[in-house]
Amino acid sequence: MREAYRASIVHCRAAGSKPSAKGSDFLAANIQAAEPFLLEYFEDGLLVIEDGLVADVGDAEDLLSQPGDAIPITDYRGKIIAPGFIDCHVHFSQLDIIASYGEQLLDWLHRYAFPVEEKFADLTHAREVAGAFLDELLLNGTTTAMVFGTVHPQSADAIFAAAEARGMRLIAGKVLMDRHCPDSLRDDPISAYTDSKALIERWHGKGRLGYAITPRFALTSSKEQLAAAGKLAAEYPDVWVHTHLAENKAEVEEIARLFPDSRSYLDVYDQFGLVRQRSVFAHCLHMDDQDRQCMAAKGGAAAFCPTSNLFLGSGLFDLLSMWAADIRVGLGTDVGGGTSLSLLKTASEAYKVLHLQDQAMPPTTALYLATLGAAEALQLDDKIGNFESGKEADFVVLDPAGTSLSKRRTDLASSIEEMLFAITMLGDDRHVAATYVAGSKAKIK
Ligand code: GUN
Ligand code: ZN
Repeated sequence: MREAYRASIVHCRAAGSKPSAKGSDFLAANIQAAEPFLLEYFEDGLLVIEDGLVADVGDAEDLLSQPGDAIPITDYRGKIIAPGFIDCHVHFSQLDIIASYGEQLLDWLHRYAFPVEEKFADLTHAREVAGAFLDELLLNGTTTAMVFGTVHPQSADAIFAAAEARGMRLIAGKVLMDRHCPDSLRDDPISAYTDSKALIERWHGKGRLGYAITPRFALTSSKEQLAAAGKLAAEYPDVWVHTHLAENKAEVEEIARLFPDSRSYLDVYDQFGLVRQRSVFAHCLHMDDQDRQCMAAKGGAAAFCPTSNLFLGSGLFDLLSMWAADIRVGLGTDVGGGTSLSLLKTASEAYKVLHLQDQAMPPTTALYLATLGAAEALQLDDKIGNFESGKEADFVVLDPAGTSLSKRRTDLASSIEEMLFAITMLGDDRHVAATYVAGSKAKIK
């Protein structure tokens, strides 16, 4: 089945050389040019889809004047089509504790996160939340996510089944944790290994689904459990590893106390074989250059979670240092520590976090971090992230007039960069007119 969508179309064709300079020269240079992310823009564009894959993208008049059979065209003129957003780090079980008041990470976990996660022992509850969570992602234009479950294997079953029913690309895993948490949420090194292995066999590579070995963080896993996770990772080189790293200062101090033989927090994971291709580390705030070199050399990637880092008072992500070390970075919402499932809102907070550090995030960078950059971070850029032909047709239809204020502002925009910037700063789910997954319009309950 061949069909097409007509609208303004924008995507990042490829990652150019990443910026490394800080300060206002960089800011000015990158607002003037669409570099460094090789933006491709068709003001009156056509996106042609065949069997759920991108067949072609280009100028509408050019493509429509080519010989061939007429195909159905959905007319979204006045709106902007962009690749589906990719959330590199989020907890589906924490949907119902978003916006919980007043704590930093370690207290927040005990006061809010652990109690809500206990409810996922009940598969019916896990299924209900999984469905509601994925519908929220789709409402926000997110078509792929890397998702933490809870310690219960059935939490992973629930989120995978819900993603499969929606045709979404999704990476998820059961959490591993066997200490420093309530007894009811503990597994052990052996069950962590066998349950994860069974889930890998059941879900990894099934359609658009992928498995992530998911030790919560080094604080809640014994050495024996980290060793079991490393053993599993060695047995399954193409599954992902997903964990938290160096988010909060008190957490980092506790890790130093618990693992006195490790040079750093990252070194703990590295000693257990958990820093490698397809390892994704959420936060990465309190790291040094040696850590960054290690992460880059081993192929690990970072999820930049600005709303969470601000909300939990954790710190500021140093994007330019990560890029200077050649580490792949994508955005993560980190709900429930994060305060929004919208990658537009997340990118808007990323801009402010970087601004505070004299770093720039031009509109092209925001789009890159939410699409192609995130696909690169997850090592899925051969499948998603832009409109290269043959990629999976995940896309979002953005409405610049999603609110009366954004309509006023975007009516005055004189370039796609200005338009994208205003939508990013003012945008949320009201600016998502439709979301398409593998070429099909998401039906959101
Ligand atoms: N570190 C360990 N667990 C968590 C969690 O659930 N959320 C966040 N933000 N950080 C964590
Ligand atoms: Zn998290």
